[in-house]
Amino acid sequence: MPTNSRPLPVLPGAPIVGAALDLRRDYLGTVLRAAREVGPVTRISAGPPGWRASFVSVTAPGLVLEILGQPQRYTRDTAGYAEMRWAFGNGMPTSQGDVWLRQRRLLAPVFTPRRISGSYAAVMVEESQKLVAGWREHGAAGTGIDAHDAMVTLTSRIIGRVLFGADMAGAIPRMVSARHVGDTLLRRGVVPHPMPVRVPTPANRRLVAGVRTLRSVVDDVITARRSRPSGDDGCGEDMLTLLLDAQRSEDPDRRLSDTEVADQVLIFLLAGHDTTATALACLLVELARSPHWQSVLRTEIGEVLAGRPATAADVSRLPWTYRAVCEALRLYPPAHTIARVAAADEVLGGYRVPAGSTVLVTPWAVHRSPDLWPEPDTFDPGRFDLPPDRHPGGHRNAWLPFGAGPHTCVGMQLAMQEAVLAVATILSAFDLSTTVDTIKLEAALSLHPATALPVRLTPVAG
Ligand code: HEM
Repeated sequence: MPTNSRPLPVLPGAPIVGAALDLRRDYLGTVLRAAREVGPVTRISAGPPGWRASFVSVTAPGLVLEILGQPQRYTRDTAGYAEMRWAFGNGMPTSQGDVWLRQRRLLAPVFTPRRISGSYAAVMVEESQKLVAGWREHGAAGTGIDAHDAMVTLTSRIIGRVLFGADMAGAIPRMVSARHVGDTLLRRGVVPHPMPVRVPTPANRRLVAGVRTLRSVVDDVITARRSRPSGDDGCGEDMLTLLLDAQRSEDPDRRLSDTEVADQVLIFLLAGHDTTATALACLLVELARSPHWQSVLRTEIGEVLAGRPATAADVSRLPWTYRAVCEALRLYPPAHTIARVAAADEVLGGYRVPAGSTVLVTPWAVHRSPDLWPEPDTFDPGRFDLPPDRHPGGHRNAWLPFGAGPHTCVGMQLAMQEAVLAVATILSAFDLSTTVDTIKLEAALSLHPATALPVRLTPVAG
């Protein structure tokens, strides 16, 4: 370790327990406070001595690739990932090393740009149109909708169809009933010594029951596919086909067990809908609160689509809609925190980071930094209206909702396209308004709205 490196500055907290209560009450606020009051590399300690968990929170864009760009030096061996592996298995978002590489290669064909802009786009538009038609039929125009519930339904249906050829309609209530699982896992990942899951406390029982519910959804998806000769839902050979083929593979390096198939389906089902749903829901509320931006987007959408359904080719013709999605992902980054463990002693920004430290790259705090984003709490898609040689926020990693380095989100293009097509379809049909003033958030494994998000719908004339 270089001799001129300094000890990490620490976020001041309560005597003895440090920031434990702050983290428990308000994880997002605590991380922001660490960045604003202490600096871009801060130690946050929680719990009494001898029972303490501590994290290094990093919010300097210039340090992002030092951490996320070097998976051997900063690994996924964190307590949070261990919790996720227990609940969801070792699918691509939790795996690392050779296992991860094998999975990424196996599943790459599902995420080719051709696939995404071809059959997936058609499903995205069709499902968005169904949603809008349902709102019209059931008089939601009068009563309004809850934006988060609506977007969870939409994104679950889309991901179910494009990845697994599955109709998720019947499963959505079960998935919603298990929403607490992510929140519990995050808390278990940040408290010093979580109660072992095998101890039947009420919280543990609820967690186990929630995971069992999610697994029952996956079993149904796989059973339904096995009872059909082909899962082709117009999307070609989907992810489930690839997984089931790999299960039967002659090649032992490629072969997957039943559990590996189920784990992969579960984690993609969750990673593929929950994140996009939060971003879309928050975007609808921001647009509902801002007649100006809503009108900018509706004018653009009206000019480009002229009343016809959107297609993948329209995504690049709707720059303001795209920028609005980027801005929603800045203000409400669904993956609020990306955690790693330093495999050996490291120096970050001149500070000593001992081996075994959990290092948190927090898009949430990077995206709300006043040094990078003037008036960081204001929704302003104009921040992304820049010449191609300039980065939003002034640094290539000032905007990182999809992470960075080799583990960058594999679903990025799919999610961006899905969000643009959904917003274009919704704004073509309805004018949005809301009484929501501020979106209250909670940090589960991904970011969630903490309250209902009522949005009123008024049919657009013409
Ligand atoms: C707005 C939506 C989304 C956001 C904000 C998001 C965010 C992220 C982030 C930050 C990572 C990096 C995690 C890390 O470095 O440990 C990630 C990884 C991943 N995401 Fe997403 N994601 C989104 C949508 C999706 C979708 C739609 C899918 C699948 C269809 C998906 C599948 C994955 C997978 C499999 C990984 C792991 C990649 C790897 O380790 O190689 N995500 N996502």
